[in-house]
Amino acid sequence: MSWSEIDRYLEQLLIEDDPEVEGELPPDQVTPLEGKLLHLLARMSGARTILELGTLGGYSTIWLARAVPAGGRVVTLEIDPAYAKNARANIDRAGLGDRVEVRLGPAVETLARLIAEKAGPFDLVFIDADKSSNDRYLPLVLQLSRPGTVIVADNVVRGGAVADPESTDPHAQGVRRFFDAVAAEPRLSATAIQTVGSKGHDGFAIALVGPSNPD
Ligand code: SAH
Ligand code: DHB
Ligand code: MG
Repeated sequence: MSWSEIDRYLEQLLIEDDPEVEGELPPDQVTPLEGKLLHLLARMSGARTILELGTLGGYSTIWLARAVPAGGRVVTLEIDPAYAKNARANIDRAGLGDRVEVRLGPAVETLARLIAEKAGPFDLVFIDADKSSNDRYLPLVLQLSRPGTVIVADNVVRGGAVADPESTDPHAQGVRRFFDAVAAEPRLSATAIQTVGSKGHDGFAIALVGPSNPD
């Protein structure tokens, strides 16, 4: 059985309402099973406010927005104006427009603006934009967090490149700097899980913000 066949088997049993997104998009969105993982993590942690870096078509955004209760809020950051506009339409079509804000711009800038606006703290943050900048996002995300905030980062394995110190892939290098920063941050308790599936071999990092020295 191939990883994709196994994904299809599991999806057909476990995914009841796969979000529909339209538009010309690269195949970079999370898989249905991964989207549901994000949804369940949000519900398990009782998240009411969620921050996402990297919207694309709004697929993961919709999974996350379905997890927040009435009055909850998802803010999703996207650099590409065409993706942002298309995602807005997909999110509205899914009936979730009232609880999702799509913010256009480079995430470093939109994060700084959210900090200046005192928009935090968010209960859950999903980091899934340009992975080469993940280490720059972490301190900004921490400024929008509180003890108990769940931080999830996508694509942290990339077929194993992350574990290769010689890798010249800027994505792998950014993720390595991100893990160095996570490991050095006393407020974070973290793990990472490798995944296989229809998108190949990759993985998620999951971190919990604590007061300090949580371990
Ligand atoms: N979270 C989405 C997939 C995101 S793909 C899902 O799973 O459905 C990564 C997205 O990050 C792309 O849409 C890309 O345009 C966006 N992106 C890349 N660099 C960015 C930056 N500097 N700031 C904000 N978004 C960025
Ligand atoms: C790719 C996959 C992702 O999940 C993502 O967020 C960005 C890029 C990729 O396979 O290239
Ligand atoms: Mg991703």
